Amino acid sequence: MGWLFFLHFFLLSLMARAPCTDAWGKEGHYMVCKIAEQYLTKRASNAVLDLLPPAAEGELASVCSWADQVRFRYRWASPLHYANTPGVCNFKYSRDCHNSRDELDMCVVGAINNYTTQLLNYKDSSNGYNLTESIMFLAHFMGDVHQPLHVAFEADEGGNTIDVRWYRRKSNLHHVWDVNMIETAMRDFYERDVNVMIESIEKNITDGWSDEVSQWKACNGDSVTCADKYASESIKLACDYAYKDVDEGSTLEDDYFFSRLPVVEKRIAQGGVRLAALLNRIFSKKVGGNLKFVE
Ligand code: ADE
Ligand code: ZN
Ligand code: ZN
Repeated sequence: MGWLFFLHFFLLSLMARAPCTDAWGKEGHYMVCKIAEQYLTKRASNAVLDLLPPAAEGELASVCSWADQVRFRYRWASPLHYANTPGVCNFKYSRDCHNSRDELDMCVVGAINNYTTQLLNYKDSSNGYNLTESIMFLAHFMGDVHQPLHVAFEADEGGNTIDVRWYRRKSNLHHVWDVNMIETAMRDFYERDVNVMIESIEKNITDGWSDEVSQWKACNGDSVTCADKYASESIKLACDYAYKDVDEGSTLEDDYFFSRLPVVEKRIAQGGVRLAALLNRIFSKKVGGNLKFVE
């Protein structure tokens, strides 16, 4: 056995341990953006089309995982996918929104505010920003902030260091929420087809959750984007559902799956509806350069 063989396994084991910063995995982000596309105003949808790269072929959803694909090239952006708390079930911007070098605003909430501010300069052709990247980052981070374990405990890196079994397979708690629950739901309930899952979530938005949806969209007060509120909801859900009754080495199966899947589906729905509402506000006539949003 040559050294190449060992190098191969060494690299594989490094990859297996590398903290995963992609929320929801590919499917989750695709669903958030696909749902958002349905709720865009004509004005916002035109602006989005104008900003998307040609490879997107006019579809926001096709570039919603771009931020994960570039995370090795854009290492500085890695902390922008999440925010962690010092083991408490509430989010406080001044305490929690920083990177490992303690630079303020370097977390998912700061990133949403920052890319929103950049996009408010659309129409000012000398704005100096690459707004194509801004919109791809914004669409991705609006998904991330809704994944409960992307606003979670610092000590376990949002569940990344909590090894569990998902049914018989080895996994970790973070990966269960990013990927495993969505995969299992697609296999068991949605004909292995992401579009069938999206249709089911959309049906819930118009039927089951219809009287909550205007509350989801509401964003008043001083905050630019309300991302602060979404992060607070996430850490609360992380405590009440994701971490609840889970220990290192736990096996998570039917009980966990059936009680947590409704949370996953609702967060994807909220991510989609709120991403659309945010883009609608950003590109609405009223807002202009003003940071305060009016519905
Ligand atoms: N790395 C460290 N904390 C994380 C979190 N909450 N989510 C994703 N990746 C992380
Ligand atoms: Zn991410
Ligand atoms: Zn993740």
